[in-house]
Amino acid sequence: MPSLHDAARGRILFGGDYNPEQWPEEVWADDVRLMEEAGVNSVTVGVFSWAMIEPRPGAREFGWLDRLLDLLAAHGIGAVLATPTSSPPPWMGALHPETLPRTEDGALVNYGSRQHFCPSSPVYRRYAAALTEDLAARYADHPALTVWHINNEYCTHCWCDETAGHFRRWLGSRYTTLDALNDAWGTAFWSQRYDTWAEILPPRRAQYMRNPAQELDFKRFTSDALMECYTAERDIVARHTPHIPVTTNFMPLWSGQDAWAWAEQEDIVSVDVYPDPTDPHGGQYNAMLADMTRSQARGPWMVMEQAAGPVNWRDVNHPKPAGLNRLWSLQAVARGADALCYFQWRQSRQGAEKFHSGMLSHAGEEGRTFREVRRIGAELALIGAEVSGTEVTADVAVLHDWDAWWSSTQQGRPSSLVSYTELVQTWHRGLWESGISTEFARPGGDLSAYRMVLVPQLQLLGDAAVDNLVAYVRGGGTLVCGFFTGVVDTDDRIRPGGMDARLRELFGIRTVHEWWPLDAGATVGCDGFDGTLWSEELEPDGSAETVAAYRGGELDGLPAVLRKGTAWYVSTLPGPEALRGLLGRVAADAGVRPVLEGLPPGVEAVRRGALLFLLNHGRSPAAVELPGRYVDLLTGEAADGGVELERYGVAVLGDVRA
Ligand code: GLA
Repeated sequence: MPSLHDAARGRILFGGDYNPEQWPEEVWADDVRLMEEAGVNSVTVGVFSWAMIEPRPGAREFGWLDRLLDLLAAHGIGAVLATPTSSPPPWMGALHPETLPRTEDGALVNYGSRQHFCPSSPVYRRYAAALTEDLAARYADHPALTVWHINNEYCTHCWCDETAGHFRRWLGSRYTTLDALNDAWGTAFWSQRYDTWAEILPPRRAQYMRNPAQELDFKRFTSDALMECYTAERDIVARHTPHIPVTTNFMPLWSGQDAWAWAEQEDIVSVDVYPDPTDPHGGQYNAMLADMTRSQARGPWMVMEQAAGPVNWRDVNHPKPAGLNRLWSLQAVARGADALCYFQWRQSRQGAEKFHSGMLSHAGEEGRTFREVRRIGAELALIGAEVSGTEVTADVAVLHDWDAWWSSTQQGRPSSLVSYTELVQTWHRGLWESGISTEFARPGGDLSAYRMVLVPQLQLLGDAAVDNLVAYVRGGGTLVCGFFTGVVDTDDRIRPGGMDARLRELFGIRTVHEWWPLDAGATVGCDGFDGTLWSEELEPDGSAETVAAYRGGELDGLPAVLRKGTAWYVSTLPGPEALRGLLGRVAADAGVRPVLEGLPPGVEAVRRGALLFLLNHGRSPAAVELPGRYVDLLTGEAADGGVELERYGVAVLGDVRA
């Protein structure tokens, strides 16, 4: 199978989305000159060029793309060539309105923006396949072609009639019989029983709360329907170029695609990362996305997009202060990225994204943004050979699962203040701040390589996943599990006793009598810390130790944190310091060490292959003591016993062996 390694060939790929169709061709020569200056060796082309290539149904205008790819090849710049199928031309919507998506209210989503296609539309799929076929045939042997990029950020949802039919077929293969579907969806409730398949609809706007199992299946279906679009195009390009790796770019922590399942269908796992420059946890968020994507990729991965400066889709769009782009870029590399690309190369002058930054901003080649980009390009060239293809390892896994995420968003739950993604991020932060290297894993996956496994929250857990967790602990693994876990099965059906019985036995819980969610800002006293967000009325079965009990209030004296051997259950959300302390303590017991001891706050240490990356997320300089003799690959200077990092500074240290 081709991989990122085939495209990177011992380098870090560096570049970005390149949309030269927005510019007169005279500008292209300037583009490649500046790309070469900045060390750009890879650009993503064609993402939004469907209307340029096929200006009317069946037409093919490849001349401009021929000239562009030839130009790139002549300058040794590789092309991540996109199938332009995420933004159909206006003619398609005008001629075939049935290709346009409908909202859950039945409203038509018009063309005039992008991503306006119904994933279930056979007409859309036919045009997309025909164009992909011709694109792949034309450029299969082009020397610039290094990676196929299918579509862009698959995120469309549709509730139209075509989708309804497709959904029914999907349900038919999942359940075979209507009885099985009625049972799984619990349609005895509120007179929802279906008598024929034709009655079943996508969960459209309704009078009151909708059926949560139907919604869960619709989310599964939508992820699968989009994946069919992806695999159809992937199979076409792979037939023409079996040696060229294929990817599609994920949105970060995006609920619409089950990224574990999608990643299995990709040669390269790539993601678009846009931490907010003003977010005090931006560095940790970037680390988390890197850990997540690396885990999905099971190795080196690709930053398909990031921003060199401000984005244009937040309420207030802040630029990146000097040094931050470099810091987060090298952080991604430290955490396994072998490709570091941006949206986009040259900032647009027109269109909805003209205020979104580019590598080459409106300030031009003398602008601060481009100067920083040039520096990053030069540094990647320095470290590329040593870094590319090397691994990042971790003793700890955080479990993450789309089914559990989807079930956690349903209406009518105990607290709408509980956010699955925030819990995942909060628990990951506990480890990140303790300097512990982390991966992500699926609840049903092989956990044997990890000393410690964390479950921030998995409301839905299937039987196989429950058995997997139990077997992991029985095999000596350390499991720390957050509240409201194992509450429902894969049909979203409640498990009696407030939690799966096998898990209750694992943690020493006889019954979860009630969930006691907390109001915003409220806390519940516990031994040694305050809990937030949630609490639980647990009746222990006597086999577990109460590590901390609730103090005061209705739950006074009842266990808040339980431990039975190496299985821990945390029934509230401890504040950040307490969570960090708890995870740090359990990690130490499990033999998990931080990457480097005694780091100043805000400094991150990551080992990748033989290299030690030090990254200062603080706004002031930091001094780091080192346990040996190193050389900083970025400066060539010795770092014996310690190194000074400027604000947002980075050192990439190689061991000096005697
Ligand atoms: C996404 C898209 C890009 C661009 C950026 C802007 O990542 O893939 O085309 O719109 O957002 O941040």
